Amino acid sequence: MTLILGLETSCDETAAAVVSDGASVLSNVVATQHELHEAYGGVVPEIASRAHLERLWPTVQAALVEADVRADEIDAVAVGNRPGLVGSLIVGASAAKALAWSLGKPLLGVHHVHAHLYAPLMGVGDLAGCFPALGLVVSGGHTALYRMDGPLRIKRLGQTIDDAVGEAYDKAAVILNAGYPGGPALDRLAQTGDPAAEDLPRSMLDKQSLNFSFSGLKTALLYKVRGTPTGRGDGASFERSIEDLTDRRRADLAASFQQAVVDTLIKKLGRAMDQWEGEAPRALVAGGGVTANSALRPALLALGEERSLPVHIPPMTLCVDNAAMIAGLAHHRLAAGDADDLGLPVLATGRD
Ligand code: KG4
Ligand code: ZN
Repeated sequence: MTLILGLETSCDETAAAVVSDGASVLSNVVATQHELHEAYGGVVPEIASRAHLERLWPTVQAALVEADVRADEIDAVAVGNRPGLVGSLIVGASAAKALAWSLGKPLLGVHHVHAHLYAPLMGVGDLAGCFPALGLVVSGGHTALYRMDGPLRIKRLGQTIDDAVGEAYDKAAVILNAGYPGGPALDRLAQTGDPAAEDLPRSMLDKQSLNFSFSGLKTALLYKVRGTPTGRGDGASFERSIEDLTDRRRADLAASFQQAVVDTLIKKLGRAMDQWEGEAPRALVAGGGVTANSALRPALLALGEERSLPVHIPPMTLCVDNAAMIAGLAHHRLAAGDADDLGLPVLATGRD
């Protein structure tokens, strides 16, 4: 049995977890910072880094206590080192290096987005039997489709050319005055509305494209809420404000926005299956914060049913940022005899 301590600090969640054999989550502690960023309507990088500094060590201690594991029983220390906010990543990577060095254990840097793809596969009995798999990541920073030939053999097939889905949700929540954090708040509002009430665009790009675009949908929503603007940029003035809309209309707009997002994601997944080359996919794998969405989850399951493909979606605790997925994926690097040295860099972009 291998025990890996994982650390995750790429954005605004300070997280630590202990995972055995890449499959069983012994602890998964997440300290959110929502209360620190709420007043600004989004994550402030400098505030996030400072909060990670204060919260990381108590979070690591809580993860060890909850797992009932002593630090010297850990076989390796893993950390999400790319992509993310550089100041935030540095806090996690520095702590992971200090822990690995002081315990004399291997250090493993993990690609945060690839870990989101692994989260739904943690604990799946026949892991090897899931590949090749079609993967979808929908988070605040990323929206992309992947071909997965193994937990670490991942090739991107397409990605958003502008906003990530979670980012579009967060901006739509501001437009609709739904609350903070935006994604879950908009999801709640949408559940009280009619998804067919409003006509909003589903951007498909070219006929064959596996890329996504959500900025047009966001702008269409803004114009529905506030009317067509006169003037541009900061000088633009709108016909009305969100306060002029009834609660019913706000809920209908939220539900219609949600439906447009889900339709787009499902359509592109179908397109990726139709264009698939070589051995057909054996599973549909989806991860990232937006897989917590109440409309997306059943839509993914329905697509799997229609295409006779098993669907793997993370449990709620593994959808949003967490360190269990980092420790889980790191297990496969460790098992392959791979590790990093103390020069492990942090990277704002993941490139892949
Ligand atoms: O994976 P994640 O925690 O962080 C990144 O790697 O970006 O994803 C966070 C994103 C946020 O944009 C958040 O609004 C969105 O996931 N999100 C949701 C829901 N829960 C979280 N979006 C829609 N519906 C939800 N229920
Ligand atoms: Zn994430």
